[in-house]
Amino acid sequence: MNKIILLKNRPTGKPTLSDFEFSEEERPKAKEGELLLKAKYVSVDPYLRGRMRDEKSYIEPFKVGEPLESGIIAEVVESNNRNFKRGEFVNGTLKWKQFQTSNGNGLNKVDREKAPLKAYLGVLGLTGITAYLGLDKIGKLKKGETLLVSGAAGAVGSVAGQIGKIKGCTVIGIAGTDEKTDRIQEKFGFDGTINYKTSKDMKTAIKEACPNGVDVYYDNVGGETLDAALANMNKFGRVINCGAISLYNETKTPTGPRVESTLIKNSILMQGFTVRDYIKDFGPAQNQLAKWMEADKISYLETVVEGFDNIPQAFIDLFEGKNKGKMIVIV
Ligand SMILES: NC(=O)c1ccc[n+]([C@@H]2O[C@H](COP(=O)([O-])OP(=O)(O)OC[C@H]3O[C@@H](n4cnc5c(N)ncnc54)[C@H](OP(=O)(O)O)[C@@H]3O)[C@@H](O)[C@H]2O)c1
Repeated sequence: MNKIILLKNRPTGKPTLSDFEFSEEERPKAKEGELLLKAKYVSVDPYLRGRMRDEKSYIEPFKVGEPLESGIIAEVVESNNRNFKRGEFVNGTLKWKQFQTSNGNGLNKVDREKAPLKAYLGVLGLTGITAYLGLDKIGKLKKGETLLVSGAAGAVGSVAGQIGKIKGCTVIGIAGTDEKTDRIQEKFGFDGTINYKTSKDMKTAIKEACPNGVDVYYDNVGGETLDAALANMNKFGRVINCGAISLYNETKTPTGPRVESTLIKNSILMQGFTVRDYIKDFGPAQNQLAKWMEADKISYLETVVEGFDNIPQAFIDLFEGKNKGKMIVIV
């Protein structure tokens, strides 16, 4: 039999295990032109929470009673498609099923000789590419500037901070535990850090950590941290609105301070960023990240959870900050 995980109900507030249904079906068979794929590594990502709402977005919402899906590295265990061979590994948006068939559309082959397979879900995958393209398209970092990053010990944030260092910037990271802030300073060379959970006043904490002000703010969390960062932006500062995880589980979106006069007074650019708008740039971004990895200029952290049945819990744990770096499930 083939284990599958379905969306049972749309969560209210923070997702719980009761929002997921564990089920089984017969193992599928590959028809002519198809592949049989066996899931190896499953990426769990904060944006999946948005797909659990019945709301129009840049990507279709999940349907209740249907399997969930995310980025998955899978092994080709059977191939009736001449473009793929048995034993090859592919990366794509696939269903939360142990085995599934595919016609090969939307799958990219991944080379385990070049990098560990899991890296294609993190630093060389969508999260690394998000960090790179957010900075490239909106941040436009210049040497000597100050880059502030929230979610700095996470998959996107940890790569964004390291790119800031490569570009010759002063990089300050915001994260939710002292263990995480220590880690990003030691492992990734961040110049300074702020623990947003223990800081009494984030506006002052950012001012102290960034004495020359903030030129680029890479925002992964939104909410009150964004309010505090905006109050510290320099003239012609750029704010990359990449994520707003602090708001994803809110049932009523809280209102914040009005931002118009702050943006006008300092000529600040604040722009929403969706990595999928730049699909044609994924290849070059991945190549650059791979080069930096080879040159030991970028490294990464992973939190690896074992077992197909633990995919929903690993996803829920993102909202508790239980991961350092990319959260991945080994099936
Ligand atoms: N726009 C795009 O195209 C795009 C693409 C990928 C990701 N994203 C967004 O980028 C952000 C980071 O994604 P990721 O994959 O790198 O996730 P991640 O940072 O690896 O994991 C989530 C982290 O968010 C922090 N967090 C959880 N609840 C929080 C809260 N209430 N307030 C502040 N921080 C909280 C936790 O770290 P702490 O312990 O530090 O709290 C947690 O470890 C997410 O908002 C995601 O939606 C956007």
